[in-house]
Amino acid sequence: MSYPIYRPRRLRQSETIRRMVREARLSVDQLVMPFFVTHGRGVRREIGSMPGNHQLSVDELVREVKETASLGIPAILLFGLPAEKDAVGSEAYARDGIVQQAVRAIKNSVSDLLVITDVCLCEYTSHGHCGVVERGRVKNDPTLDLLAKVAVSHAEAGADMVAPSDMMDGRVASIREALDESGLEETPILAYAAKYASSFYGPFREAAESAPQFGDRRAYQMDPANGDEALREVALDLDEGADMVMVKPAMAYLDILWRVKAEFGVPVAAYSVSGEFAMLKAAARLGWLDEERTMLEMLTAIRRAGADLIVTYFARDAARALRQQER
Ligand code: PBG
Repeated sequence: MSYPIYRPRRLRQSETIRRMVREARLSVDQLVMPFFVTHGRGVRREIGSMPGNHQLSVDELVREVKETASLGIPAILLFGLPAEKDAVGSEAYARDGIVQQAVRAIKNSVSDLLVITDVCLCEYTSHGHCGVVERGRVKNDPTLDLLAKVAVSHAEAGADMVAPSDMMDGRVASIREALDESGLEETPILAYAAKYASSFYGPFREAAESAPQFGDRRAYQMDPANGDEALREVALDLDEGADMVMVKPAMAYLDILWRVKAEFGVPVAAYSVSGEFAMLKAAARLGWLDEERTMLEMLTAIRRAGADLIVTYFARDAARALRQQER
């Protein structure tokens, strides 16, 4: 008998057979689209390094969110730009803060859409750090109460899920407790459990105007070199009551996604961050990469690595591309 008996190419012969044996599946059901909301009316400020993404006032945001929902995308993630920043990020937990207003407006006009809010202080603080700063250092415990207030104010405004991204120790427990005490025990927490101190956040900081005014975030976000530590972070957040955990960024951290999924078997989200989006957009503009095919390959790889959900600025493009493929 001649070798080989098993020829892997037999199952690659046609799209029909490839479709049948495909392992990782990308579906619109797994996509979450991020948005940036700002004060004013009729505001649509394009973010230079994130083509197609804008800082939007609430009225414009509602329009875009409706369009997003009509594509079948089940969830959005909201970030806010406050009218004023101060040392303790007051607008982050104000009843009439920009995110709180946006959540109410969306909830009043779009049904069947999950509204997730990013819980953090960096967009709201004058120093741009994710917590209270004392003598040049970000203090952990004094920040926890503020984060809990942010989460409660979002949930009271109608947020369906809160997503703390600050990386303070113990914040999931403090948010869970505060939500429960406010009668919001049904509000789930999506914890940015393994969030790395990454240069891939560059474009986001332009979008959210949240760059730290001194130093960097390496004293609270994770060292990109660490993998075991990510598992400890996830274990802590689950112990503290996280309903879902996130790994962020995605592409350069697929091993972390894989390990988290394998070790814990809980719902895992991946955040394909602004820099991942910007890299592909830029290369596509130069004609160096095929945007749609590369996008779908990236997102499929993130699924294959273990992500149940993917937060991506490509959510709408991906939804359209997937719809096209079904035809
Ligand atoms: C901070 C936050 C950041 C992102 C999401 N939440 C930036 C940071 O930590 O500096 C980055 C998202 C992206 O790059 O797309 N609250």
